[in-house]
Order: sequence, then C-alpha cells, then structure tokens
Amino acid sequence: MNTAIDIRGLRKSFGSQTVLGGIDLSVAAGSIFALLGPNGAGKTTLINILATLSLPDAGTASVAGHDVVRDARGVRGAISLTGQYAAVDEVLTGEEVLRMMARLNGYTPVAGRTRSSELLARFELTDAARKLVKTYSGGMRRRLDLAISLLANPAVIFLDEPTTGLDTRSRQSLWEIINGLAAGGTTVFLTTQYLEEADVLADRIGVINEGVIVAEGTAAELKARIGGDVVELRDASDELVREIPTDGTVHGLRAAIDQLDALAVPGTHVSIRKPSLDDVFLALTAHDSQLESNLEGARS
Ligand SMILES: Nc1ncnc2c1ncn2[C@@H]1O[C@H](COP(=O)(O)OP(=O)(O)O)[C@@H](O)[C@H]1O
Ligand SMILES: [Mg+2]
Repeated sequence: MNTAIDIRGLRKSFGSQTVLGGIDLSVAAGSIFALLGPNGAGKTTLINILATLSLPDAGTASVAGHDVVRDARGVRGAISLTGQYAAVDEVLTGEEVLRMMARLNGYTPVAGRTRSSELLARFELTDAARKLVKTYSGGMRRRLDLAISLLANPAVIFLDEPTTGLDTRSRQSLWEIINGLAAGGTTVFLTTQYLEEADVLADRIGVINEGVIVAEGTAAELKARIGGDVVELRDASDELVREIPTDGTVHGLRAAIDQLDALAVPGTHVSIRKPSLDDVFLALTAHDSQLESNLEGARS
C-alpha cells in the first residue's frame, strides 16, 4: 500500500482538556477516508494538525511523505484544505475569484483562464461564473471552494465537513465530485457527522469519539462489528414502528420477535435488515460509556 497519510500516537490538549488522546491512522494514497464523529469529537483539531495549521503535543504525522512538524512546507506544497479562501471572494464573481487564485498559484493569465473555465464546468458553475459570489447558495460556495483548492493539483485534499448544512441535492452533487477526485488519484481525507456520507463515500472509516478512534475499517467491517441484523416492524404505510438489533443467533432473533408481538397489529409487517452505520455508532459509543461506567464502578 502506498501511504498518503500516516498518524502515530498523535496527541493534543488545550489547557487541561485532552482533545486528541493518541490517534493512530493510516490512509492509502488515492483513497477516500472519512473521519466520522459528533460535534466536539476532535475532527477539526486533527485536520488542522495534518494541514500544518496547528502543532501536535506528541506523536507524529506525515502527509504525502512529509512530516507535519519537521517539513510543514513540504506538506503545504502537497495538500489543500477547503474553506481557507472563503473570506476573499464576496465582491468578485466566481470566475474572477478562480482566475485571481490561479494567478496566485503561478498560472500564466492564459493558462489561468483555461483552467478556471475547466473547473467552473466540472463543478457545474459555468452558468453562475459571471455572478457575484455573494449571491451564491451554500452548495455553490462549497463547489467554488473545492474548485479553488484544486488549482494547485494537490496530492491530498482535506475536506472538513464538506456537506454540513447543504440540502440533499447539493450534498449528492458534492459526493459525485469527491468521488471523481479520488478516481483521479487524489487522496481525500474528510470529516463528517453524517453516517450515510461516510458509508456512501469512504473506502475506510475512522469513528472518533472524544478524541479517541473507537473503530476503524470499511463500512462493511464496522457493520460486522455489531454482529447481528436488525428486525424492523413497519405499519401498513411502511412507517417504522419499532426496530430491535439482534446478536445474530436464533435465540436472539426469537427474543426480538417476541418483543414485537404486542405491537404486531393487523397491517404491520416485519423485515430484517443489515445494521446501518447509525447502529454501529450507537453500539460503539454505548459500549464506550458502558466501559467507562464499569471502570468508574471498579475505581470506587
Ligand atoms: N483553539 C482551541 N482552544 C481551546 N479549545 C479548543 C480549541 N479548538 C478546539 N477546542 C476544543 O476541542 C474540542 C474538539 O474540537 P474540534 O476539533 O473542533 O471538534 P469537531 O471538529 O469534531 O467538532 C472541543 O471541545 C473544542 O471546544
Ligand atoms: Mg469541526
């Protein structure tokens, strides 16, 4: 495996608060990695360290072969981080912003115009190219941000919650673009609070909770970790009445069906589905707090 990002024992605290409690992760070149976790889990802190905007307290990380502390310059030459240009663009059109950023990235005027037109087309912004950025929707701004970050042809691209706050259509169009980046050989490291997003996009997923990776693997591997299928009871209009995770045994399935018996009025029907990432996350974090309360119990 050609490793694009390698993280070993990375730690970071703010004052007395430990925000990253020893992160180990490895991301293959050309793959999409999703760091999945709730608000405050430490996702942005980790991305900021990888993008050399912040220093770790301990541990090491390398990006595209460059150490983030000893060779920050090398890292910066190989990456892009979206959102970093968000403030410059209000009074310009999308096309003007791209051409200006192209010049700053060392393009000649002609090459900058050509590349800008290509990127505007690729990000479905051709029709909006001559409109002021301040009139753009959230989805259009995210696409422009991504287009800007691709001017430098980065080997690794960091996307911190790229679709947060977007509607379903904009989100899906961004997903297609992100998939296209990886298909072109770019390594994508993204953070998300959306289980579906990680499931749809990522080759591998790291689940982070309170600064600790609680699980890492493919979506299928994570789903396998919570074991059994989920039994669902739905009413006549297919609305979910109740769902019960099982442990995958005959006994567990029978117990789940028994629990649903009282709710099984005429018109309802049962089905069995594979666990979703939602189930996985709940199971992993529930397991975590269970572990903590056990530990606390053992201490007192
Ligand atoms: N510069 C900072 N100074 C102090 N605390 C911070 C700073 N940046 C982040 N934190 C704290 O670190 C924790 C993790 O934050 P963050 O990495 O932004 O999480 P996420 O991106 O997963 O929502 C939060 O409790 C946040 O308040
Ligand atoms: Mg964040």
